[in-house]
Amino acid sequence: MTDSYAVIGNPVAHSKSPQIHAEFARQTAQDIVYTAIFCEIDAFQATVARFREAGGKGVNVTLPFKHEAWNIVNHLDRRAIDANAVNTIEFKDGQMAGYNTDGIGLVRDIKDNLQCFIKGRRILLMGAGGAAYGVLNPLLEEQPEHVVIVNRTLEKAQQLTAHFEKNGGVATGSISARPYGSLGGERFDIVINATSAGLVGAMPALPNDMFAPGALAYDMVYGTTTPFMQFAQAHGAKVADGLGMLVEQAAESFYIWRKVRPQTALVITLLRGAAG
Ligand code: ATR
Repeated sequence: MTDSYAVIGNPVAHSKSPQIHAEFARQTAQDIVYTAIFCEIDAFQATVARFREAGGKGVNVTLPFKHEAWNIVNHLDRRAIDANAVNTIEFKDGQMAGYNTDGIGLVRDIKDNLQCFIKGRRILLMGAGGAAYGVLNPLLEEQPEHVVIVNRTLEKAQQLTAHFEKNGGVATGSISARPYGSLGGERFDIVINATSAGLVGAMPALPNDMFAPGALAYDMVYGTTTPFMQFAQAHGAKVADGLGMLVEQAAESFYIWRKVRPQTALVITLLRGAAG
């Protein structure tokens, strides 16, 4: 019998997840169907319950429900605990297990697809919202030299570092919270934009000389060239959008549900072709 999965979000019509999972299923000969479900803001728990009662095997959760998902599951994996958010739920043995695959998706895209190593590098993470929470610990697990977190509201960057230091696993001194104004004169090997500024055509004020030679500038947004990506390109950095991360986080969800690893590079190429 065909197993069913879905992504639940608001909005969700633009989601590429059904196409990605259909491609994974085709590649790996898995008998699944994957749909997108629009959910009213106050109906997340009921929507999940309905899908589950109808025989669904699992869901992906996207904005704005990732924290609510974190609250309603019975079990949280380590990455979901760190991230304060769940993007993947598996329904199994009458329980709901919550995972977060966003951070590992980013790390795999940077390392495997973009061929950029993280160990020993200096990283700048811009933003201290949900997107930054989701990726910080998987980045730290790669043992960068240091991660500087900058945010317009400094207090939120400080809360983010405190959260990770409290949860354990973070070597003291490996992360610091700073305001944008403090960045002058430093160079970074990898700069990650986890702010939502690009979605409204904005970017934080950044110094021109912040990219080390060969630096990677990564914007988690996909489907558009953000002002940050334009800025980074103009200042000599290699630029990437978040499409690879999207596909990699989906692949990890697929693996959690199906215990099979799809070929992500093929799907990234396919989506880029469709976009271009
Ligand atoms: P998400 O869950 O996508 O991370 P969020 O929790 O609303 O969304 O966080 C958005 C992040 O983008 C925040 O770090 C926000 O900075 P503030 O905490 O200071 O609000 C950042 N952000 C949004 N617009 C920005 C802009 N124009 N310049 C700089 N940072 C911006």
